Amino acid sequence: MSSVNSKKIEELKAKRKKILEMGGIEKIEKRKKTGKLTARDRIEYLLDENTFNEIDAFIKHRSQDFDMDKTEAPADGVITGYGSINGRKVFVYSQDFTVIGGSLGEMHAKKICKILDMALSYGCPVVGINDSGGARIQEGIDSLAGYGEIFFRNTKASGVIPQILAVMGPCAGGAVYSPAIMDFIFMVNKTAQMFVTGPQVIKAVTGEDVTINELGGAITHNTKSGVAHFIAPDEYSCLDMIKQIFEFIPSNNLDDPPFEYQDEFYYEIPELNEILPDESNKSYDMKNIILKIIDDSDFMEVQQHFAQTIIVGFAKIAGRSIGIIANQPKINAGVLDYNSSDKASRFIRFCDAFNIPLITFTDVPGYLPGVYQEHNGIIRHGAKLLYAYSEATVPKINIIIRKAYGGAYIAMSSKHLGADFVYAWPTAEIAVMGPDGAANIIFKNEISASENPIEMRKQKIAEYTEKFANPYVAAARGYVDDVIEPKDTRNKIISALKIARSKREYRPTRKHGNIPL
Ligand code: HXC
Repeated sequence: MSSVNSKKIEELKAKRKKILEMGGIEKIEKRKKTGKLTARDRIEYLLDENTFNEIDAFIKHRSQDFDMDKTEAPADGVITGYGSINGRKVFVYSQDFTVIGGSLGEMHAKKICKILDMALSYGCPVVGINDSGGARIQEGIDSLAGYGEIFFRNTKASGVIPQILAVMGPCAGGAVYSPAIMDFIFMVNKTAQMFVTGPQVIKAVTGEDVTINELGGAITHNTKSGVAHFIAPDEYSCLDMIKQIFEFIPSNNLDDPPFEYQDEFYYEIPELNEILPDESNKSYDMKNIILKIIDDSDFMEVQQHFAQTIIVGFAKIAGRSIGIIANQPKINAGVLDYNSSDKASRFIRFCDAFNIPLITFTDVPGYLPGVYQEHNGIIRHGAKLLYAYSEATVPKINIIIRKAYGGAYIAMSSKHLGADFVYAWPTAEIAVMGPDGAANIIFKNEISASENPIEMRKQKIAEYTEKFANPYVAAARGYVDDVIEPKDTRNKIISALKIARSKREYRPTRKHGNIPL
């Protein structure tokens, strides 16, 4: 090699070495003491070995103000590129807090935008890792512009490629809105925080005292706000969970989710015939039913700790991905409220956008009554569920396990909202309302005129139960396709999915619908 060539190569190596050192050993050590990996370690752990190809490592900011012309910022505080997860192509970016606090300036934003553009163009999922102080204050309006460009791309890519985001440090100010537009947010407990305004600003404006984790930690966003979908005890398990979700989702809206070969597709599950409590108002755990029906009891629950009256998540049946939506009778009788309606609707829309059939397990007493619910928009939020199920064109299969009353009967993937198959267990009660409430209204006069109103009420409830609290009235109208023995549920779902795989459904051309938000 000529000496000119080798000098140039040495120069390249030296430049790259400097970039790989990120914000310097001191800052890296400080971060490691708090249990945090570096931005590069996170990518290395997430991707298959030796698959990471970095892009734009040599990017430099061009800010001059506030001594920024003298500030070195390796990779401008964000590592970007592509690689693979379980052999599947994926684009990644990972913010580096050791470089100006991972703050986002003009060029940092340009790097993320380039990744989003490429991911969209090649039909690959994108995984972002946020760990940043937010807009780079020294770069002012250019930082804000950068965020705007990212939001625009997140929106353009929505429903075309899956967008996954892990929060592994601060995610403050406007920075929260890119994750919020993306599909799934993973947060690491104790070390990740998301908030629009921090504790100090809140104290100054409203006088409220709150710690940073109470305000926007992983527990808060997984239990109260519903902003996040997953919580992980540490960074490694967070990255493992991201790898796991890739087992269920396709790379883009034109692909099918990954198929996993299964030896044994069809089998009866006799214990399901005995699984429900004898009395119809006794609670039970719907997850026990789900786990028996799906392949290998492998259920990736989404928003496990939020709006727990409904369960949503990914599983496989006969090796194919499904999205499960199920009422949870164990929590508040599985009632629908404004949060559970939101939770289910967003999940349904993700599955529909990405060709994942919807399997619903229904046991719902109704929409939750109360001033609080009404004033917090149960009408607006409940409407989302009707809209999301009606809009979805993937195969939709509903198993009515027990209660399906009133508006909630319609909302939970009824035939009327386009379900392909509705099966009911013999224990199903499909009616306009529960026997107690119904008897009080329609037999009000007879009950009050009776010499023994308590006995009369009992009689009338029994009469109503006998007549309406069963699956056969709905089956007689064709609103239920078949009443099945519980043990056959898995087989019925597999057969229904098989026949509906070639489903085609055309809707009127329009720019987009106007889902009630
Ligand atoms: C420039 C920043 C920065 C920022 C942190 N740094 N945030 N530099 N712009 N937004 C720098 C610090 O100056 C420091 O530099 C280094 O990063 C590490 O920060 P520390 O404060 O020392 O770290 P720590 O104590 O861990 O605190 C982390 C933090 C805090 C809680 C995130 O840095 C913080 O509150 N930052 C500002 C958060 C914020 O208000 N962001 C909103 C910006 S406005 P040195 O040189 O000392 O290492 C916004 C609006 C966008 O985001 C709207 C879009 C729609």
